Amino acid sequence: MANTLWAKKSITKLQHDASAEGNQLTRSLTSTSLVALGIGAIIGAGLFSLTGIAAANHAGPAVTFSFALAAFGCAFAGLCYAEFASMIPIAGSAYTYSYATMGEFVAWIIGWDLVLEYALGAATVAVSWSGYLMELLYKFDIYLPAELACSPFESLKLSDGTVLDGGIVNLPAVLIVCLISLLLIRGTEKSAKMNNILVVVKLIVVVMFIALGWGFIDPANHTPFIPENTGIRGQFGWSGIATGAAVVFFAFIGFDAVSTAAQEAKNPQKGMPIGILGSLVICTILYVLFSYVMTGLVPYTEFAGDSKPAATAFAVTGYDFLQTALIVAVLAGYTSVMLVMLLGQSRVFYTMSKDGLLPKIFGDIHTKYRTPFKTNIFFMIFVSVFAGFVPISDLGHMVSIGTLFAFALVCAGVWLMRVKQPNLPRAFKTPLVPFVPIMGIGVCVFLMTTLPIEAWERLAIWLAIGLGIYWFYGRKNTKIND
Ligand code: ALA
Repeated sequence: MANTLWAKKSITKLQHDASAEGNQLTRSLTSTSLVALGIGAIIGAGLFSLTGIAAANHAGPAVTFSFALAAFGCAFAGLCYAEFASMIPIAGSAYTYSYATMGEFVAWIIGWDLVLEYALGAATVAVSWSGYLMELLYKFDIYLPAELACSPFESLKLSDGTVLDGGIVNLPAVLIVCLISLLLIRGTEKSAKMNNILVVVKLIVVVMFIALGWGFIDPANHTPFIPENTGIRGQFGWSGIATGAAVVFFAFIGFDAVSTAAQEAKNPQKGMPIGILGSLVICTILYVLFSYVMTGLVPYTEFAGDSKPAATAFAVTGYDFLQTALIVAVLAGYTSVMLVMLLGQSRVFYTMSKDGLLPKIFGDIHTKYRTPFKTNIFFMIFVSVFAGFVPISDLGHMVSIGTLFAFALVCAGVWLMRVKQPNLPRAFKTPLVPFVPIMGIGVCVFLMTTLPIEAWERLAIWLAIGLGIYWFYGRKNTKIND
């Protein structure tokens, strides 16, 4: 039994499994839909919330550089993802790639680790969504009990300026998770159409912010551009830029979610690289410009403790009505991030179940909608619990560390595959191997080291639970030898 630990799936078998009777998902996503899927997953709470936190606490106006540094790491990982996704265009993302390259055990670790990225990523954004929703309701003089919009152990700065120390449950966050999960059960095609609309709304608001805000930049707010280090590591200066990069790294998470939809792409060989790299490039340009304008509008110190820094900065322009529109668009934008995260999560578990590593129930497909609806329902409950009861900062750190870990393993996998099977056809080839994978691993591991020790402990606990499940269930039920 132990030898299945390192057993690898052949790429031919992967492709055969995907096309077997009863396993097909509908191929409905075009290259444009895939870029939209990427942008839909990428622009969210990271840009609209974490930019302010990173500027105020770590990098100052140089948060612009933090974005560039985080993008640098993501670009290397993105190039590796694109090669894998075009070579193994099967649902399951990094999990499937590692099954073909590094064996079942590593694949299990990555699949399990991806729950941190996708499921907890969705929970993180849901909590931030709830905060913006409360702000919008406040603008219309509608007041919900604050205890029902705040998890226990979390301090919530209310719109009227008072602070609530610990609530009961974050109900709006739970509700949005349930709504999106139900939508996903109805099918990817409908979800993808809605996603395209949301992406356009989101792009309009980001471009509007940059274009209208540009004329109001006060050069004094950009001076000094890199505030001096306070003597504390990670607080301004170059070390602040690095820590800021680990914080805003969250803003880039999602481009890899495109690869989880490979089995639903019309032409995965062409669509995967376009979807992954296209969405990454567009978002990087927008992020750098957005953060430059944001820190130019308001002194970065004013973003401390502000959950809606984009709205605060935009207020300087005096376009009041557009500020409300901005909040509405941000809310809509968050919806598409959660949509892609939950979609990616269900596809990873679906694939793991098909491989026998998780119970069969996760692989059941709805007879009418052709979606893995039981997995969707399971994660609706799982993500709701985290969104309702865990503080956003704890969620964010776990998402970042889990994702960086997965990215590093994917980079390693591409390199390994080039050495072991150099002649396999690859529709897209990562340039400069092994330089690009090595840089990807290096930047990801470096960013992991800037995260707090608690994040490392939680990652270790999560992986230990996963190993237990693999030991008692996965290795006994694996279908690798079938
Ligand atoms: N990149 C996504 C966001 O910023 C996760 O919300």
